[in-house]
Amino acid sequence: MKVELKRTKALRGEITPPPDKSISHRAIILSSIANGKSLVKNFLRAGDTLSSVNAMRALGIEIEDDGAEVVVHGRGLRGLSEPSDVIDCGNSGTTMRLLSGVLSGNPFTSVLTGDESLKQRPMRRVITPLTQMGAHISARDDRYPPMSIRGGNLKAIRYEMPVASAQLKSAIMLAGLYADGTTEVVEPRRSRDHTERMLPAYGVKVDVDGLNIRVSGGAEPQATEVDVPGDFSSAAFFIAAALVVKGSEVMIKGVGLNPQRTGFLEVLQKMGADLKVENVRDVSGEPVGDIQCRSSELRAVDVGEDMIPSLIDEFPALCVVAALASGTTTIRGAAELRVKESDRVGAMAEGLKAMGVEVEEFPDGLGIRGAEVLRGADIHSHGDHRIAMAFSAAASAAEGDTTIHEAEAVDISFPGFYEMLKRLSG
Ligand code: S3P
Repeated sequence: MKVELKRTKALRGEITPPPDKSISHRAIILSSIANGKSLVKNFLRAGDTLSSVNAMRALGIEIEDDGAEVVVHGRGLRGLSEPSDVIDCGNSGTTMRLLSGVLSGNPFTSVLTGDESLKQRPMRRVITPLTQMGAHISARDDRYPPMSIRGGNLKAIRYEMPVASAQLKSAIMLAGLYADGTTEVVEPRRSRDHTERMLPAYGVKVDVDGLNIRVSGGAEPQATEVDVPGDFSSAAFFIAAALVVKGSEVMIKGVGLNPQRTGFLEVLQKMGADLKVENVRDVSGEPVGDIQCRSSELRAVDVGEDMIPSLIDEFPALCVVAALASGTTTIRGAAELRVKESDRVGAMAEGLKAMGVEVEEFPDGLGIRGAEVLRGADIHSHGDHRIAMAFSAAASAAEGDTTIHEAEAVDISFPGFYEMLKRLSG
């Protein structure tokens, strides 16, 4: 599907972003391996998180959804049953990697596959530690899906992760629940800590000591209630659009503000963005608040490796803002972005160049010279939801028409995205 976009008038009004994708995945998976009936409020109904629902159903878990709340009939750590078919994780790296941890603890064979994008994504990062724990895993070329897992009889390990990845960390922690002894994960840099925050709600103790995280095997998770906050990563496209479309003033309500997710806000503040965070409160162990955004004169900034994990999914939105800031923004240490749903470094360079921006591409990032104006262009989303949304924000500020190809990719995390953009532009 193609979507045609024009430069918009000032964006004005109030929005509530869709529910958080990372937290929704975790709520479904943890509730499935907990004892009893869990309730997930404000669950994200989108392509990615429905992949987790389908996967847990394929493993014998009953999940009811009346359109308001989701009820998961958890069967305990040992309650999953062998799937009768291959499990399709769709486009969702989170489903595949988190599930690989759970399945490593289960004494049966499962095969995980996904769409063309997921089948290109690196899985050796999970295969290595899970194999050390005792799981039997084989994968195409030893690194790509499909991946078959026969689990059971895990032993605890201490594992120094080679990449800062919350999916990898979570996979090892979940396998650790099934292992004999205490599993310890050491992160090179802090990644999002939703799993660490959520497990205690299910009665499972997690020890966090700086970059070291420990979980012990044997503790049975108990059913609970999770209220999912708004997704900061989805809100990021509206923050970017509000900043670059002149005269805009947008209020974003009920958005998650986990400090491992909000590096984008810090960088934007350095760029001179007019942003106010208000009404911060706690929802299910996660900080949540409202963000008031006004269009701003922005200046370039340098973003290094240290910041990348806390703005990993905001890289496309940051590139758009940089394209309209004065000076050259350099983003380095972002090689992980090349192995997301698409090569996001390459996709952003390609699209920004098509819009008339001078871009230098590095193996691990981009140099983006801010332009006076963007030119509408033909943009390829590469089937990647975040690329489609980033260029929709850019199109709102660009002269002339923009066509986003494979625009339906937004449904992976943000069904209704284009309608929301339209509503704000009046
Ligand atoms: C996620 C972790 C991040 C992020 C992804 C969701 C998660 O990936 O990019 O969208 O829910 O744990 P990595 O773990 O690969 O960094």
